[in-house]
Amino acid sequence: MIITSCGNSQGIAKNIARRLKAEYSSITIASFPDGDIYLKFNTILKGKRIVIVQSFQPHPDMSLFDIIFAAETAKDLGAKKVILVAPYLAYMRQDKRFNAGEAISSRIMAKLLNNSIDKIITIDSHIHRYKSLKDVFTIPAKNLTANSLIADYIKKKIKNSVIIGPDWESYQWAEFIAKKIGVDSTVLEKTRFSSRKVKVKVLKPVLIKGKNVVIVDDIISTGHTIAEAAKHARNMKAKSITAIGVHGLLVENAMDKMKKSGVTKIITTNCIEHKTNKIDVTSLLVDELKRDK
Ligand code: R5P
Repeated sequence: MIITSCGNSQGIAKNIARRLKAEYSSITIASFPDGDIYLKFNTILKGKRIVIVQSFQPHPDMSLFDIIFAAETAKDLGAKKVILVAPYLAYMRQDKRFNAGEAISSRIMAKLLNNSIDKIITIDSHIHRYKSLKDVFTIPAKNLTANSLIADYIKKKIKNSVIIGPDWESYQWAEFIAKKIGVDSTVLEKTRFSSRKVKVKVLKPVLIKGKNVVIVDDIISTGHTIAEAAKHARNMKAKSITAIGVHGLLVENAMDKMKKSGVTKIITTNCIEHKTNKIDVTSLLVDELKRDK
């Protein structure tokens, strides 16, 4: 097995290689003067299983393009199997035509990957209107979850906590985590007006006054969702407010926005490399790759 990366997720890729005692080999990716992509493997691939570790952030478009070029080249060079480990898989939120004429991006992304790779492994993929990854992928597709790792982190670091899921989609994480720790959880109802404007209201009241509130979501992008949930917790006199995201996209001024709304700490997993990474998902990926034959 050879582990490689197209640029994003190099840290996790190297850790996976070390733990599996497999070779890590880089891919050279550059541009010709006119912008055409140049890609070169730097090791022998014939007969090997190639694992491309690549989160789709930053630069989701280029990531997808680089993966397709790498996978096609690997097969062309005789690789036996190409596995994509995408700790964060982009495009999954556009899972329907919200407005007439829109692309259903998740289906297009999956179709391109179905053609080029043999298997995909991802973590807490944004499966909302789909039942599972099988709804879009025809290749074997595994969706792992960082739930238990997040619960362990909260249990160790945050006492007297209450867990909030800022919308129904995130409640699956919040409820599981709260049960594992043995604390209360609640869910908010989110109405989204645009990519940058959401409103939340409480559905199930729980005691927040004096508690260390933890808001858990799969994705933190612009930070609006967390900021709105934090304002609610602040109004209810929470002692502290921690935001935990599996995938910290943290675009635009997300960090400042959340802090201004009362968030005291922002924690993410290393599905996307960022200075807020405190929860390491490498073990989930290593265990899954060990199961691959
Ligand atoms: C949406 O359904 C996701 O679960 C997240 O709540 C959302 O992507 C967060 O986006 P933002 O940080 O821009 O509010």
